[in-house]
Amino acid sequence: MTVNDLSLEGFRSYINAGALFCPETNIITGINAQGKTNLVEAIYYLTCGRSFRARTDGEIINFGCNEAAIKAGITSGGREQTVEAHLYRGRRKTILINGVKQKTAASLSGRLTAVLFCPDDLSMIRAGSAARRRVMDQCLCQIRPRYAEALTEYGRIYDQKSRILKDWREKPSLLEALDEYNDRMAEYGAVLIYYRARLAEALSERAAAIHRDFSGGAEELSLSYRTVKTDADPLTLKPEEIMLPLREHQASHKRAELESGTCLSGAHKDDLEVEINGRPAKSFASQGQTRTAALSVKMAEREILAADTGESPVLLLDDVLSELDAGRQDFVLNRVGGGQVFITCCEDDRISQKTGGRIFRITDGEIRPV
Ligand SMILES: Nc1ncnc2c1ncn2[C@@H]1O[C@H](COP(=O)(O)OP(=O)(O)OP(=O)(O)O)[C@@H](O)[C@H]1O
Ligand SMILES: [Mg+2]
Repeated sequence: MTVNDLSLEGFRSYINAGALFCPETNIITGINAQGKTNLVEAIYYLTCGRSFRARTDGEIINFGCNEAAIKAGITSGGREQTVEAHLYRGRRKTILINGVKQKTAASLSGRLTAVLFCPDDLSMIRAGSAARRRVMDQCLCQIRPRYAEALTEYGRIYDQKSRILKDWREKPSLLEALDEYNDRMAEYGAVLIYYRARLAEALSERAAAIHRDFSGGAEELSLSYRTVKTDADPLTLKPEEIMLPLREHQASHKRAELESGTCLSGAHKDDLEVEINGRPAKSFASQGQTRTAALSVKMAEREILAADTGESPVLLLDDVLSELDAGRQDFVLNRVGGGQVFITCCEDDRISQKTGGRIFRITDGEIRPV
């Protein structure tokens, strides 16, 4: 899978910019705040119709514009295709694939896939559970349209339920809607749990093999999915069957939720527990070990996307290579094997010499080949 050309209008810092990329390594350089991460964000947006760092589409439209467009020519499924996202202030976005307007962004699923790797990911093992949920969400949203839809709905319901739990004392009538929200939260939560349980298994298997390789067989990495504690095994059940136990768990926490004013039960608390040699990595692993484990998880994500679509996903390395020592840089670059890569780095970085590839420099909102 490759991004062959990209055009950006009114997207973040770009008023009107474009570039032709090469199918191997593309190095995006430029001083701070020129738009390197914005470029990576635009490519990522086309994988699933959402940004990895903005909460709303409004944020990513240029401050002075009312709409934005991201358009790319890609090679996917052995043929050249086009994908476009048009974003508007105060109106729903539209997605076009090969010029045809799509009903929802979910139809982007599997068309263009990418693994994004940024400095925050390097600390995913020691960070809070949100960082590890993000890994699962980013991977699943690109290949499972039902998951992407459920995640959006779940987020919406979570926000509304949180508001009820926060304000019910001042406005008790809000409680009338609580049961309805609980039902819907269990319904969509069950979909998230169903897919996450399966992904965690696949990630664990692949990440363990990669980590074994990198540590010369000295370390055994394992990932286990932690979700709402019920008797239901999400690996053997359908989402409809997971829903009821989730609803019961919520009911048993109703009083505590009302008292604390927060959502205590649900998939929004899920986690991936990471162990190295049988011990929780979060508490016992060294800084270097947790970084290597994070690399293994990311590389495993790449393998899973490749296995699912039959093509190498695009690898987006945002500012991350310069954070790694030479051994880990090689580890990442040697595993990329043939796929397209975008690497952002500062201008004076030596990475461009090491990796080869086409170099671009971003200045004044333009992306120019060097
Ligand atoms: N909606 C927007 N409209 C206009 N400009 C924006 C918008 N959102 C972000 N920007 C601008 O984009 C710039 C940041 O771009 P970006 O994060 O891509 O920088 P970068 O080149 O990756 O920098 P660094 O090297 O520091 O990571 C900031 O100057 C910011 O003000
Ligand atoms: Mg950046």
